[in-house]
Amino acid sequence: MEGGGATAPAAPPPAPHPAVAPLAFLLGKWRGEGEGSFPTISPFRYGEELLFSHHPSKPVISYTQRTWKAASGEPMHAESGYWRPRPDGSVEVVISQSTGLAEVQKGSFDAEKKTVTLQSELVGNASKVKQITRAFQLVDGELSYVVQMATITTSLQPHLKALLKKI
Ligand code: HEM
Repeated sequence: MEGGGATAPAAPPPAPHPAVAPLAFLLGKWRGEGEGSFPTISPFRYGEELLFSHHPSKPVISYTQRTWKAASGEPMHAESGYWRPRPDGSVEVVISQSTGLAEVQKGSFDAEKKTVTLQSELVGNASKVKQITRAFQLVDGELSYVVQMATITTSLQPHLKALLKKI
């Protein structure tokens, strides 16, 4: 008989929905630092937390992001949305940004290489932004990404780069 008061070991997390399984490498909470730049602005450093979560009954990943000034901790940009992977290796992502900008992104993932590449199909309610691309890659257990944008004055080029660890 087990000793009195012993707690049962925690049950393993349920398997993700089959549609989400190829992107399971994203699931969880990530934290790290990034660098922002663009030809029209001064470069800056930021801290960031990403959360990718899901329910096993739904073929969708919920996504939230928040960032803060590296020096002071003061909040910066935040965004949230939903990632919908498809069995054919394509993925559709909707994101709403704290600036009011709305994005629909389409792209593809590679479950073996642990990469996701997204390109905006729609950028709404934006005064300057014409196009946004996002590329994620898991390397040695760390999640890195590059966000590029094109604006009314500037061609597509990097705005954000970050490296995050699972926490
Ligand atoms: C500037 C868009 C994410 C921080 C800008 C500008 C645009 C923009 C259009 C002005 C560029 C210009 O005037 O030529 C976006 C988009 C994002 C994004 C579309 C996501 C896809 C972020 C994030 C941060 C950030 C995550 C902070 C961690 C800044 C800063 C500036 C800036 C500090 C320069 C100062 C300013 O103009 O407010 N961004 N941004 N941005 N962005 Fe972003």
